[in-house]
Amino acid sequence: MSAPILPVPRVAVIVVAAGSGTRLAAGAPKAFVGIDGRSVLSHALDGVFAAPLAQVVVVAPHDRVGDALTETRQIAGARHDLVTVVAGGDTRQASVAAGLAAVWADVELVLVHDAARALTPPEVFARVIAALDVGADAALPVLPVIDTLKRVDGDRVVEAVDRAPLTAAQTPQGFRRSVLQAAYAGAAADFTDDAALVQAAGHEVVTVGGDERAFKITTPGDLDRARRLLAPAATPTPAPVPLTIGVPRVGVGTDVHAVGGEGALWLAGLEWPGESALSGHSDGDAVAHAIVDALLSAAGLGDIGTHFGVDRPEYAGAHAEAFLARTRALLAEAGWRVGNVSVQVQARRPRFAPRRAEAERVLSAALGAPVSVAATTTDGLGFTGSGEGVQAFAVAVIVPA
Ligand code: CTP
Ligand code: MG
Repeated sequence: MSAPILPVPRVAVIVVAAGSGTRLAAGAPKAFVGIDGRSVLSHALDGVFAAPLAQVVVVAPHDRVGDALTETRQIAGARHDLVTVVAGGDTRQASVAAGLAAVWADVELVLVHDAARALTPPEVFARVIAALDVGADAALPVLPVIDTLKRVDGDRVVEAVDRAPLTAAQTPQGFRRSVLQAAYAGAAADFTDDAALVQAAGHEVVTVGGDERAFKITTPGDLDRARRLLAPAATPTPAPVPLTIGVPRVGVGTDVHAVGGEGALWLAGLEWPGESALSGHSDGDAVAHAIVDALLSAAGLGDIGTHFGVDRPEYAGAHAEAFLARTRALLAEAGWRVGNVSVQVQARRPRFAPRRAEAERVLSAALGAPVSVAATTTDGLGFTGSGEGVQAFAVAVIVPA
């Protein structure tokens, strides 16, 4: 059965996710930091794909374009053909400009959304589009300012500020495409948001209702707030349970590769001179691949195909250390570290016993955690016994970082 053909959308949503997250300081670009088991970007995309049909342009840090594409396509589901990912710039404005350049010709309305507003519900997108549909050039979701405001000079209060005429701006901010494009083409300064840029170009911006959940994750406290909002509603505890109190998690992985590849055999992170190679997109190291699957499965991060599929040319021919180091980083971003891994390889050749300790050292070093390797020949039975292929089974335990 062929996939349904989607109409060409008249709306595009540019999701800017190329920032470094300096204030969050979580050790990874903000969009790739885990909230629960899933990243800021993937939560933001939930809202985007639940909103009315649109081309979705994700603007990612230049070294994360591949990761962002994999993640976005996965969340897009049947809408995966509507996904474009481009590299961002040094400022938010430069990132929006990069996204704008990738908007398809037929698109009439462009919404610009911060990935950092990860929990924005789809209704906000619908309200912004509705305002544009009744003729506005630009529409901005806002919330009333609740705090009492003061003007200060250093640490001295100068005066109270009347908050009645003030409002807090959120995203997605929506624009007639021609208006946004002209404003960007003529932008002479750096603005904090797109509505300000469009207004400086002489256009009127109308407001629509924002949403409390559309707050921007900026500081560690904001990340905690997002985690609390995502925690199951049934827990009536006012005190949030930090993720670090969570129990360890276990995952299982298995992999098979046929004998018959080019070059040398790579298995369990070691090169085996004189032995027949295994075939596969990478080096065919079934031991490493079983470990990767076990770890990703334990963290609920999908499987090896999700992150290292054949559409990732940088992993063609890669060895165990590259896969394991990347997997370890993915886990760290989601708030996990490796507890230990146990892997068993079933193969007629090579003879593992003389190099078992060496394999354990290499694999353990790559994961920063103990990896134990066992091997068996399956008594001549099955494809492993006949020497047609090699199979590996891994069990991994991960713990909150
Ligand atoms: N953004 C971007 N490109 C940049 C800077 C920011 O795409 N060069 C995006 C961020 O990814 C974020 C949104 O713009 O989704 C709002 O920016 P902000 O909250 O300031 O994020 P960061 O710049 O990543 O954070 P910080 O300022 O703390 O470094
Ligand atoms: Mg910033």
